[in-house]
Amino acid sequence: MSNPWIIDEGDFYELETHGEQMRFLLRYAILAPSGHNTQPWSFRITPDGVQVFANTSRRLLIVDRDDRELLMSIGAAITNFRIAAAHFGCETTIAYESRSIESAPVATILVCETCAPDAELASLFPAIRHRHTNRVPYDEQPLDPTALQAICDVVDANPSTLRLILPRDKAGVAECVETAERALMARPAYRAELAEWVGSPDARNDGLSAEALGIPRMLSGMAPWLIRNFDAGDLQARREAELTRSASMLIVVTSEDDQISLVKAGETFELLLLTITRCGLQYSFLSAPVQVDESRTRLRQLLGNALQPQLLLRVGAAAQPAHPTPRRPVENVIA
Ligand SMILES: Cc1cc2nc3c(=O)[nH]c(=O)nc-3n(C[C@H](O)[C@H](O)[C@H](O)COP(=O)(O)O)c2cc1C
Repeated sequence: MSNPWIIDEGDFYELETHGEQMRFLLRYAILAPSGHNTQPWSFRITPDGVQVFANTSRRLLIVDRDDRELLMSIGAAITNFRIAAAHFGCETTIAYESRSIESAPVATILVCETCAPDAELASLFPAIRHRHTNRVPYDEQPLDPTALQAICDVVDANPSTLRLILPRDKAGVAECVETAERALMARPAYRAELAEWVGSPDARNDGLSAEALGIPRMLSGMAPWLIRNFDAGDLQARREAELTRSASMLIVVTSEDDQISLVKAGETFELLLLTITRCGLQYSFLSAPVQVDESRTRLRQLLGNALQPQLLLRVGAAAQPAHPTPRRPVENVIA
């Protein structure tokens, strides 16, 4: 299996057809993050660009029953595609669809060559291959001022989608994380779904490794069975709450709950994650408080009730790098 994270960008200039170029850009799109690493996307190359579809067979029916994570993951893949296109001298325009994801593309990306590609997008290109979700504890130090400024610039540019959590609200947010994590892990159906997506990265090209869930490598063969049969919610909840309290920065992704807003929220948070990566920092997701209705309401109250939380992110510096996660080969996701 070739490593999807190793791409020789010089190969792009050897490509002769539009189809080959779109396929090459899609290799960057599929490096986007997705809930449980489901990679819930597929693409169709058209004469003008690319249509982006949801792969509904990859839905997380228990934890993501409203497809919020699925749609945001697709948004993140769209951002990667647009950044790669800008890097290789193309301009992109997106047409969003509000029809059901079962019957229509989620979005269509029109691509055309330009002599003035979006320099801000293109500047994030190197970060695509270095972005990895890093779940280890961070060093608890304040962020370096240059990095802080770069992150705040993205937050300020997207006030309806990104919101910094104030230090005074950190304890309340950590409480939401703890309660929600415990509630999720107590549900056998939640654990069964999670277990379905856990396996060795050598054996599958999607899903999560046991280590990502804090299960030691020596027990990784038993991980799905352990997850299905034991409720480690208490341990997990205390750990995640501590990670929340010790984060240098917490950011909530917010949006309305409709399809187009969620795709756009995914596009925006990927810009943020790539900016964090470019600054040499790490981030990880803490989705539990938005996956449990009561915790989501509490989190919304902490934000002043105006905005609907969709994701929580912690940001900081980690001594240990995160490993790249597997991806399905690009040819498997092109319809
Ligand atoms: C919408 C969304 C929600 C996620 N929620 C969580 C989460 O609650 N906990 C977690 O550890 N990772 C979460 N992740 C991270 C994914 O597990 C991760 O993106 C995937 O395993 C691929 O790994 P990578 O991000 O390192 O490429 C989430 C990712 C997305 C896009």
